Amino acid sequence: MFTTGFTIGRPYSVRMPKVRTVFACTQCGAQQPRWLGRCPDCGRWETLVEERVGPNPSIEGSPAFEPGHESKPQALGEIEVAGTPRLSTAIGEFDRVLGGGLVPGSVILLGGEPGIGKSTLALQTAAQIQAAGARALYVSGEESAEQLRLRADRLPGIPPDVRVLTETRSEVVLDLWHELSPDIVVIDSIQTMCCERAESAAGSVAQVRECAALLAAHAKQAGTALLLVGHVTKDGSLAGPRVLEHLVDVVLAFEGERAHAFRLLRAGKNRFGSTQEVGVFTMGAGGLEAVENPSELFLAERSASSPGSCIVPVLEGTRPMLVELQALVAASSYGIPRRTCMGIEDGRVALLLAVLDRRSDIDLLSRDVYVNVAGGVRVAEPASDLALCLAIASSRLDREMPADAVACGEVGLGGEVRRVARLDLRVREAARLGFRRILIPEGAEIAAELRGDCEPIPIKDVAGAVAWLRASSSVSAG
Ligand code: TYD
Ligand code: MG
Repeated sequence: MFTTGFTIGRPYSVRMPKVRTVFACTQCGAQQPRWLGRCPDCGRWETLVEERVGPNPSIEGSPAFEPGHESKPQALGEIEVAGTPRLSTAIGEFDRVLGGGLVPGSVILLGGEPGIGKSTLALQTAAQIQAAGARALYVSGEESAEQLRLRADRLPGIPPDVRVLTETRSEVVLDLWHELSPDIVVIDSIQTMCCERAESAAGSVAQVRECAALLAAHAKQAGTALLLVGHVTKDGSLAGPRVLEHLVDVVLAFEGERAHAFRLLRAGKNRFGSTQEVGVFTMGAGGLEAVENPSELFLAERSASSPGSCIVPVLEGTRPMLVELQALVAASSYGIPRRTCMGIEDGRVALLLAVLDRRSDIDLLSRDVYVNVAGGVRVAEPASDLALCLAIASSRLDREMPADAVACGEVGLGGEVRRVARLDLRVREAARLGFRRILIPEGAEIAAELRGDCEPIPIKDVAGAVAWLRASSSVSAG
């Protein structure tokens, strides 16, 4: 206990000074009253920056703050729903992820690494909407008008009357927005925008949040769809912006390897649709092209007759895709064997190598192992374990997987093959692409009408899988 006579707590006569600044984390957006070396919310170091306190934009932009809004509880059943009209982007894969098109007045945040194709997708969307007779306004704070024109020239079918504006001041954008009353406004990117009511530098958390709130409030009022392009940092989080995620209706992530043509569009949040849908694109000379049959794309370059390859049906949301896992096992020339993995987590591969080594009769401990997922895809599903084990075993034994077989199952530390989610979707996709056999976890059942001509082969454990490979494959000639 203190015995010095001080009053603990706030003495009544002292007025607390009004807090004018807070310290916001540039990574997660959490706010602290004073500077700290480490953000207590996300645990990162040296990420707090000082910001002035303004009105709370996430509240300001919400429907409860619209003028004329009455605060009265309503019975859910009595609320009238006007069927949400949607503005089709005419890009099938984009519409699918949005849940059937853009909802007027909705705010969409499109995040992705630099160079992945966000500006291309945004421009193509604006162009398609303009071509369909609606009006689009494309605001760029990153590129000059000439650069935009050059990009548009490279893309097919961009109508010459798409309005572009190179501007970073939100207020100026709002003036033009009033004047043109477009159906969609693209802001590329939100990190380059600034507005007067926030005083910090462009790109700071405060600016990004204030600009987004200002533009989003206007989109709601005017009934315009607003597409905000946002950069993500190296570790994959949207720069600045967990706060932005509250503010917008849809959060989309555009992913892919820059060295490959394949791109995935995923919804992390969607107030108007499911987050289980993914859009698949390829980036080519003519911009982004929608891919309706991703499996066919991934298997196009497969050489059916080489050991060390196995096909697995993975799921992206509710969308099954067949991808090829490749493994190469080679004699190690150093004391410590090398393990190199592309498109699949190193730890998962190390675990499966240990399981294969201990639970089956193939030895791998002193061998170099290289693993790759063909086509620049990333596979994170445990459902791909069995296929990876088979690819490794196939390379080690120099025996090809039969060309008409795919495999799917999770592998446990005991070597047992475990069941996976949505096996029905996976089997149907394999059957659709003409595969005749699918290795599945023992005990899993598939209705006959789903599997078509594809015969299920139950596998109990990795030893069983290796035995099956030995029995049903030919020794490679090469
Ligand atoms: P971009 O849309 O500018 O990416 P972001 O806005 O996400 O930074 O596109 C990036 C890359 O795409 C660029 O390096 C060039 C390539 N690209 C094509 O391959 N084909 C095309 O038709 C276009 C327009 C771009
Ligand atoms: Mg860009």
